[in-house]
Amino acid sequence: MTSYHYPVLRSEVLSLLEDRQIKIFVDGTLGAGGHAEAILSAHPVVEQYIGIDQDTQALEIAGDRLKSWGEKVSYHHGNFVEVIPTLKGSIDGILLDLGVSSMQLDRAERGFSFAKEGPLDMRMNRDKPLTAEEIVNTWSVSDLGRIFRDYGEEKQWRAAAHAIVEARKEERITTTTQLSEVLRGVVRKKKGKSIHPHTLIFQGLRICVNSELEVVQDVLPICVEKLKVGGCLAVITFHSLEDRIVKKMFRQMASDKHDTSGFGGVFLDKEPLVTDLTRRPIISSEGEMEENPRSRSAKLRAVEKL
Ligand SMILES: C[S@@+](CC[C@H](N)C(=O)[O-])C[C@H]1O[C@@H](n2cnc3c(N)ncnc32)[C@H](O)[C@@H]1O
Repeated sequence: MTSYHYPVLRSEVLSLLEDRQIKIFVDGTLGAGGHAEAILSAHPVVEQYIGIDQDTQALEIAGDRLKSWGEKVSYHHGNFVEVIPTLKGSIDGILLDLGVSSMQLDRAERGFSFAKEGPLDMRMNRDKPLTAEEIVNTWSVSDLGRIFRDYGEEKQWRAAAHAIVEARKEERITTTTQLSEVLRGVVRKKKGKSIHPHTLIFQGLRICVNSELEVVQDVLPICVEKLKVGGCLAVITFHSLEDRIVKKMFRQMASDKHDTSGFGGVFLDKEPLVTDLTRRPIISSEGEMEENPRSRSAKLRAVEKL
C-alpha cells in the first residue's frame, strides 16, 4: 500500500467544517489529496469534490489516492485563480492550502530545494514559460534585489543580487547547487535563526516564478463571490507575506467600513460580506509540529459568507 503524507492542520480543518452540510466542495490546492481524503471521509454527503492543482504530478498522485471516491471527485489542471471563476453551482466550502507541497520540495528535478542538485526551475505549473533560471540569468540587479527583499524578506538582498549578476558574467547559473554556491559567504546565517541561510532567497524566487502573492490577493474575493450564503472559505498559509494578505482581506470583507474616497476617509456604506470564523489564526498542535516541522509555520484562517 502506498503511504501518503499527512496533511497540515488536518483535524483543525475538519473541526471548521464539522456540522456543515457539504455537497459541493472546492479544493483549490489538491496536492497529494490528503485534505481531500479527510474531508470526503468525514462528509459522506459530498456530491462533488472539485480538485484543482496547477501541477500535473500532484493531480496524478491525488487521482491514485482518491480513486475509491470515483466520479464524486473531479480533477482540474490550472491555477485556482483561473479555474474557480469558471465553476458553476452553489459551493458549500473552499479550501486553499497554499504554497508548495512536500512532493515538490522533495523532487530534485523540480528545482525548489537548495539542498538537492536540480535544474533552477521552481515552476508549480510546468506549462508556464518563466523559470527561476531565466530570472536569475536575465533580470537586472535591481529586479533581483526587489524579489529578494519583497518576496524573500531577505536582509542581505542587495549583496545577493550583486553576487548573482557578477557570477553570471562568468557562467550561466543553471542549477540549485550552483546558485547556492554563488550565495555562499554572501548571504549568511541570521542571528538566532535556525533556518538555512539561503532559504529566503529561494523562497523569493519561488514566489516570483509562481506569482504566489498576486494570485492569493486576486482569488479571495472570487472565492467569496462563488460561495453560497453560509459557505466557508478556509486558507492555510506558510509565511507571513501570504498570511498578511489573507488577514487583511478577510478583515476588509468582514467590515462594514469602506474607504470610498481613496484618501483614507471611511464611510459606513457597505454590508459586510463575511463573518470571521478565526479571530486569531489556528496553528498546529505541538505534536504535529514535532512530527512535521513544516507545520510550524502553518496558519489557518477562515470566513463564512453572509
Ligand atoms: C501545500 S500543497 C497542498 C497539499 C494538499 N492540501 C494535501 O492535503 O495533500 C499545495 C498544492 O497546491 C498547488 N498550488 C499552489 N498554488 C496554486 C495555485 N495558485 N493554483 C493551483 N494550484 C496551486 C501546488 O502545486 C501544490 O500541489
